Amino acid sequence: MATVPMITLNNGVEIPQLGFGVFQIKPEDTRKATLDALEVGYRHIDTAEMYGNETEVGQAVRDSGIDRGEVFVTSKLNNGFHARDAALRAFDQSLVDLGFDYLDLFLVHWPLPGIDVDYVETWTAMEEIYRSGRARAVGVSNFKEHHLRRLFGETEVRPAVNQVEMHPYLAQDDLRAFDAEHEIATEAWSPIAQGKVLDDPAIVRVAERVGRTPAQVTLRWHVQRGDIVFPKSVTRSRVEENFALFDFELSEDDMRDITGLDRNERTGPDPDTFNYIPG
Ligand SMILES: NC(=O)c1ccc[n+]([C@@H]2O[C@H](COP(=O)([O-])OP(=O)(O)OC[C@H]3O[C@@H](n4cnc5c(N)ncnc54)[C@H](OP(=O)(O)O)[C@@H]3O)[C@@H](O)[C@H]2O)c1
Repeated sequence: MATVPMITLNNGVEIPQLGFGVFQIKPEDTRKATLDALEVGYRHIDTAEMYGNETEVGQAVRDSGIDRGEVFVTSKLNNGFHARDAALRAFDQSLVDLGFDYLDLFLVHWPLPGIDVDYVETWTAMEEIYRSGRARAVGVSNFKEHHLRRLFGETEVRPAVNQVEMHPYLAQDDLRAFDAEHEIATEAWSPIAQGKVLDDPAIVRVAERVGRTPAQVTLRWHVQRGDIVFPKSVTRSRVEENFALFDFELSEDDMRDITGLDRNERTGPDPDTFNYIPG
């Protein structure tokens, strides 16, 4: 089985560079999909309270027979819980739902700049959670440079990761450079743009050149840039395909051809205007 490289976060905690995402996997399908991923070799699962499938992720980790300490699990604070006390309670509830006594990584899911609670207050709750030792690392998701700058100025704990939308149509080079400069690991969500980049002629050409699939070369592009990825699939053959990234390399030309597709195109919401609170 291929070895997935580990990335060392700014507090020394190690995270597998490749994981398995469970967004939009129905609760009833999540246990099997997660068990498949663990069987294939994934040791990093990315879930969120918003996905409604934490219970099934926790069940799969237990049922896999793999030690809890060998699986890196991330969850995220849902949007309705940004006030300090609500955030602390939501974290406790995530642990209950997962059936864990700690999380490897807990993220603020969205900055929500338009709501009453300032994300700086939310981050101070994350600091409390981190200091309690029940999250080995804490970080943010969908934060832009200006959101991060406010945290740096007004809080103490530096986020360990920033999880943002990133794929060949949204290469996010400036944000990646900013994260790196501040020792924040960048995680790429929707790494294949939910499939939208796979028919792109430039990606198909690179795939033909290296004898791999479009999904594999796109995921390999992320890996070679040094970012953390967790593609989602409920299809066992794709779960295997997406894991087979460590026995080939893209040349500088291949990398350049893929990066050249950047057109600053989001498939998801813009964090500066997204203020959605689930009902
Ligand atoms: N922080 C955030 O705000 C945020 C937002 C979105 C996502 N995320 C995280 O990022 C993870 C990944 O993003 P995502 O789920 O949005 O999208 P993605 O991983 O870019 O794409 C998933 C889609 O691509 C298909 N697919 C997967 N592997 C494939 C392959 N080898 N060949 C062809 N099609 C393939 C899947 O189909 P099937 O499942 O039908 O096989 C699914 O429709 C999520 O699961 C979640 O953990 C975070």
